[in-house]
Amino acid sequence: MSRQDRRQFLKSGVCAGATLGAATAVGARKSARAADANSEIGLGFISCGGRAGELMGAFGKLEGVRTVALCDPDQQRLANAKKRFPEAEAVSDVRILLEMNNVDAVVVATCNHWHCLAAIWAMQAGKDVYVEKPLSHSQWEGRQAVAAARKYDKICQLGTQQRSDPMQAEIKKFLHEDKALGEIVSARVNRYGIREEIGKRTTPLLIDPKEVDMNLWLGPAQEKPIFRSKLQYDWHWDWNTGSGEMGNWGVHVLDDLRNNVLLDKVALPKRILGGGGRVVWDDAGESPNIHFVYFDTGIIPVVIGLSNLPAEPGSRKSPPHPAPGSGYIAYCEGGRLEGQRGSAVAYDRNGTVIKKFRGSGGMGYHQQNFIDAVRSRDRSILNAEVQIGNDTTGWCNLANIAFRAGQPYDGQQNIDLGAGQELWDNLLSETKHGLAPYGLALNSDGIQMSSILEMDAATERFVGQHADEANGYLKRQYRAPFVVPEIA
Ligand SMILES: NC(=O)c1ccc[n+]([C@@H]2O[C@H](COP(=O)([O-])OP(=O)(O)OC[C@H]3O[C@@H](n4cnc5c(N)ncnc54)[C@H](O)[C@@H]3O)[C@@H](O)[C@H]2O)c1
Repeated sequence: MSRQDRRQFLKSGVCAGATLGAATAVGARKSARAADANSEIGLGFISCGGRAGELMGAFGKLEGVRTVALCDPDQQRLANAKKRFPEAEAVSDVRILLEMNNVDAVVVATCNHWHCLAAIWAMQAGKDVYVEKPLSHSQWEGRQAVAAARKYDKICQLGTQQRSDPMQAEIKKFLHEDKALGEIVSARVNRYGIREEIGKRTTPLLIDPKEVDMNLWLGPAQEKPIFRSKLQYDWHWDWNTGSGEMGNWGVHVLDDLRNNVLLDKVALPKRILGGGGRVVWDDAGESPNIHFVYFDTGIIPVVIGLSNLPAEPGSRKSPPHPAPGSGYIAYCEGGRLEGQRGSAVAYDRNGTVIKKFRGSGGMGYHQQNFIDAVRSRDRSILNAEVQIGNDTTGWCNLANIAFRAGQPYDGQQNIDLGAGQELWDNLLSETKHGLAPYGLALNSDGIQMSSILEMDAATERFVGQHADEANGYLKRQYRAPFVVPEIA
């Protein structure tokens, strides 16, 4: 890190309460260590939660990589991780971890609201970053993470591990080079996975400060009472800290679509129309448990259907939808390809299987790919470089905005979507069937839908009709001093 970059890092508040002298030394040494292709890479884990545990295992299998630091404001989780890595230094405050000389790269696997800030602070401190999906909690901060990777010349990979599954290259060849199914005409993305209510307390959840330092856990999020039953994991369904199912599984399935079907040619959709609701459940969650969105990509029409409800009360099956439950379908002139994590099947026009693809899901490969880039200092070899990660996350952020900026559903489905009309009508019809067993319809209370929202890909802002409300969701309110800096 240059002296000027270091000054900006200190100004950003990263080192508040920490030794400035030590921080200066860290930055100077880091670049030199990271440039050495043979030295051991020291990893710091920012989070000791569920996903971090899996990543500790995956990175632990790689040669020349050692977990040297652990961080979590949840003392029990931190202590458990420390048992696994007794030699690693364990701290509650990410700012202290970022000062450690022996941390070359960090793994950010916190709740979503911390991803960008932790990643940016880490890059300012001279570390490379593996950050879990979704990259951002709101679209503006993802742009800052991309800018930070460029400005500080850091390796930054998003944790969309399916990108590193060797199967994806075979699928791309089959669809685009061999054109084995002819032209792709449209695509459908699915996330059908049953979840449960998260509780609705009458009094706020009390957290013992000896167990979790809530100031550090909240970081950039607003301080407000929590009425769900448990703190961890279910933050996904609270807009203050999470991004709903769209920003959870939605990132993986939309990333596969962008990668395999669109070859990353569409950074963000040009127009979007979306609706949904948190229905049936009476809990403290906010994000939709049914969500249906149309994306105008400028190339082919795309829709995503998402439901966390069972087909009917008590059922273990999801509502009707074309297979796969979590994946994508590329509809082509000569058949269709159904892809999901670790496998894909191609069918001809008559529905006969013509090819099967087997993959691994990408775990192990993706972490190795990051380490290879850290050693070579070559971000071009990354399979999910932060810019790609920002684009895919963008689709999810926009889909959430369409829901949040929506109005009570009133039949706006009559909008003419041209080539995308059939895809959209089918999705709405399935959604209606999914609601019927609960005595609900698309115009029931709690279901809302946007009008068509237009996006300017260059500025990553909505333009035209209804842009103002939607633009209000592009950047969150930060809680000082946990403020994502604008990176020029
Ligand atoms: N790539 C994948 O397949 C995959 C799978 C699961 C989860 N994830 C992602 O991983 C992330 C974590 O998910 P999870 O299931 O582990 O959730 P989790 O609730 O189990 O873990 C989150 C952890 O982050 C910790 N944390 C909060 N603030 C922190 C801070 N300032 N410093 C350090 N730690 C902090 C929490 O205390 C908690 O232990 C999510 O963003 C999720 O989308 C990715």
